[in-house]
Amino acid sequence: KFEGLAMTPPMGWNSWNTFETHIDEKLVKETADIMVASGMKDAGYTYIVLDDGWMTRERDIDGNLVPDPEKFPNGMKALIDYVHSKGLKFGLYNCAGTKTCAGYPGTRGYEYQDARFYASLGIDFLKYDWCNTEGITAKEAYTTMSNALKKAGKPIVFSLCEWGDNDPWEWAEPVGNLWRISGDIYPCFDCEYKHPENWSSWGFMKIVEMRKGIRKYSGPDHWNDFDMLEVGNGMTAAEDRSHFTMWSLMASPLIAGNDFRSMSEETLSILTNKDMIAINQDKLGIQGFKYSAEDGIEVWVKPLSDGDWAVTFLNRSDAEKKINFDWAKHIIKDDLSGLTADFSNIAYTIKNIWKNKKASTTKKAFKDKIASHDVVALRLTKKK
Ligand code: GLA
Repeated sequence: KFEGLAMTPPMGWNSWNTFETHIDEKLVKETADIMVASGMKDAGYTYIVLDDGWMTRERDIDGNLVPDPEKFPNGMKALIDYVHSKGLKFGLYNCAGTKTCAGYPGTRGYEYQDARFYASLGIDFLKYDWCNTEGITAKEAYTTMSNALKKAGKPIVFSLCEWGDNDPWEWAEPVGNLWRISGDIYPCFDCEYKHPENWSSWGFMKIVEMRKGIRKYSGPDHWNDFDMLEVGNGMTAAEDRSHFTMWSLMASPLIAGNDFRSMSEETLSILTNKDMIAINQDKLGIQGFKYSAEDGIEVWVKPLSDGDWAVTFLNRSDAEKKINFDWAKHIIKDDLSGLTADFSNIAYTIKNIWKNKKASTTKKAFKDKIASHDVVALRLTKKK
């Protein structure tokens, strides 16, 4: 892979969660314009990624992929140049199999040819899926495409999407910059959505807890990818906040999946919360973990640089709950990094992130109310 392209989790937008294959150049341009004008770009969102559906149903006579001329009448290159002119980066999608999941031409057997095509277009990101892959193995198929991209020479972030079925965390660090760990996300708190075709999509808390023991495999330039965001796609504001908070604590890529053209102020304010993004983008790149669970309240934590900690209370229950957390009774230890927050000895100042205000310090017990499916997200900083 191209090293060093994703030292913090990639941030951007992907067309799939809202638009599926109904994409075109007008949508991309408008999305790019809003990414800049709304402050999303300043908040760190960089990549605009076109998912499945950008091609015609067949390759041309020379075996080349063909961007759909009805969806992209001015050509893909001009569109990519437009996105680049806005100071943004551009990504495309394909699949390791014979066809993509939506039935467009897959890359199997065309790896080097397709990689040259992507390099000639100047793309910056490739999401590479896993449908229609009978008879091939994931490690080999993704390694082949990774090598092909390298050979083509244009630095491209390589995003694996085999849903965690082949334990990519065990072999993909040299192959790609991020890898999906689950099947597709669904805009709900922790439901399982059963598709009529006999596969399931998952609420965001289901994805958070789908794989045990994989946090040690995630870090700068090799991220566990919890799938694209559903913020602004129909959940309550509390659930959107919880979703964005958990993706930040898990150091997951932050790839928005909503329609920017109809985005509410509330959705924008969640997606651009600077303190939450700073937790996601922390340079240590340590995936957080669940510290405790009691009476429907879970405490999730993430060690941060300079001795800071992110501490989040998440209400998994259907009722409002009270928090009464006496710091002095807790020592939070991360066995992976060896970092420790010993509250009985050291005082931290507290910032309540979604309230955007300072709370008191860890010398006093933290007391608050927390609505169903909502979070109280804190950043703790060692008192100087
Ligand atoms: C798979 C992926 C999705 C999306 C679709 C496109 O389901 O997991 O993220 O890319 O394919 O068809």
